[in-house]
Parts: sequence; C-alpha cells; structure tokens
Amino acid sequence: MNRLFLLICFFLCSVVVVSGQDVKLPDPVKTGGIPLKDALSKRQSVRAYSDKELSTQTLSDLLWAAYGFNRADKRVAPSSQNRQEIDLYVVIKEGIYLYDAKTNQLLLRAKGDHRKDAGSQDFVANTPLNVLYIANLDKASNRDAACMDCGFISQNIYLFCASEGLASVVRGSFGKDKLHKILQLTGKQEVLLAQTVGFAK
Ligand SMILES: Cc1cc2nc3c(=O)[nH]c(=O)nc-3n(C[C@H](O)[C@H](O)[C@H](O)COP(=O)(O)O)c2cc1C
Repeated sequence: MNRLFLLICFFLCSVVVVSGQDVKLPDPVKTGGIPLKDALSKRQSVRAYSDKELSTQTLSDLLWAAYGFNRADKRVAPSSQNRQEIDLYVVIKEGIYLYDAKTNQLLLRAKGDHRKDAGSQDFVANTPLNVLYIANLDKASNRDAACMDCGFISQNIYLFCASEGLASVVRGSFGKDKLHKILQLTGKQEVLLAQTVGFAK
C-alpha cells in the first residue's frame, strides 16, 4: 500500500501540469544544491536542448530560487526600493501562467502551447520552459530599475540550473507585440526579458 502511494506521488510530481487550470505547485525544496563556487564555475548559456520535461517539483524549486520569498515579504532577488515590480510568467506546453510566489501557484493567463511565441530562436519552441520577465511599470521606480531587477532574477535561474544539471539561456530576442497581445497586457506592463530552461542535448 505504502509503495503504491509513493509510486502515485512520484508519478504526479513527474507530470508537468494538468492543462487549462491554475496549478498548485509542490512546496519548494529550499536547501541543498552544489557549492556556490562550483555553480559559478559551471554557469553558461546553452542553445541546444532535448525535449525532456521538467517535473513540477523542479519547476517549483526553480521559481522559488529565482524569485520566491525568503523572508515574510522580501524575496530571494533584490529589487530597486523593494518595489518587486517584476512578474514571472511561465511558458510551458500547457499554457502561459503567472507565478504567484506567495501561494506557490501558477495562475493560468493563456491556454495552449505558446512556446513558439516566446522567442525567435529555433530551440525555444521545443524546450520545456521559457520564463518571461514582465515589468509592472506602475510599481517600478523607473524602467531602468526594472531592467536591472530582471538581471538578478535571471542570474538566480542560471545558478540554479548550474546546480541542478539543467541548461539555460537568457534572451532579449522575442516578439514583444505578440506576447503583449496573447497575454492582454496593460500599457503599463512590458515583457523585458525571456529565459529558456531545459536539459542540454
Ligand atoms: C540582456 C541579455 C540578452 C541576451 N539575449 C540573448 C538572445 O536573445 N539570444 C541568445 O542566444 N543569447 C542571449 N544572451 C546570452 C548571451 O549571448 C551570453 O550570455 C553571452 O554570449 C555570454 O555567454 P555565457 O552566458 O555562456 O557566458 C543574452 C544575454 C543578456 C545578458
């Protein structure tokens, strides 16, 4: 009975998400990983990916490492004047989701496979995960600060990937207008950067 239960849990964690609805992620694992200096030595950009999926556990761990809360109301990444104006949107096969770090949920924002819309480079459409950095310019101290705040989050993802044997590349190349349309962003929201994550080929 116990083995069956564990098997079911493993299966549920391996599947990425059920499409068409919000997703409650498993609690992130906030400890472990390789030593920081080893991660720094391994960090690099990768542009050739296999189509192997990420588990929901890995997704949860990655998003927490990127931009989760590590204190009551402050995050793993700094932000200018603590405005926390960057939202992370997760582009996966099942849809585009807003990462809600407080509740550890993915909130559905656009149904269906939009990975091909997350960037112009060939590999983007087939990688399991693309993260969009969307600034809320109403919250930001200014646009320059929002651009800089993206950089900290992006480096967290690079280092997480280096530690977990994943591959990543941050990207400025994507069709902004198309993404704005798909996500029905307001005039005060802007996609500033994107980042691909998966397994190296
Ligand atoms: C703001 C920014 C935008 C970038 N845009 C792209 C991009 O659109 N496509 C891409 O393949 N790499 C992009 N890169 C990755 C750089 O090309 C890469 O970091 C650089 O070549 C150094 O390689 P490394 O990351 O392996 O050290 C970008 C990097 C930054 C910081």
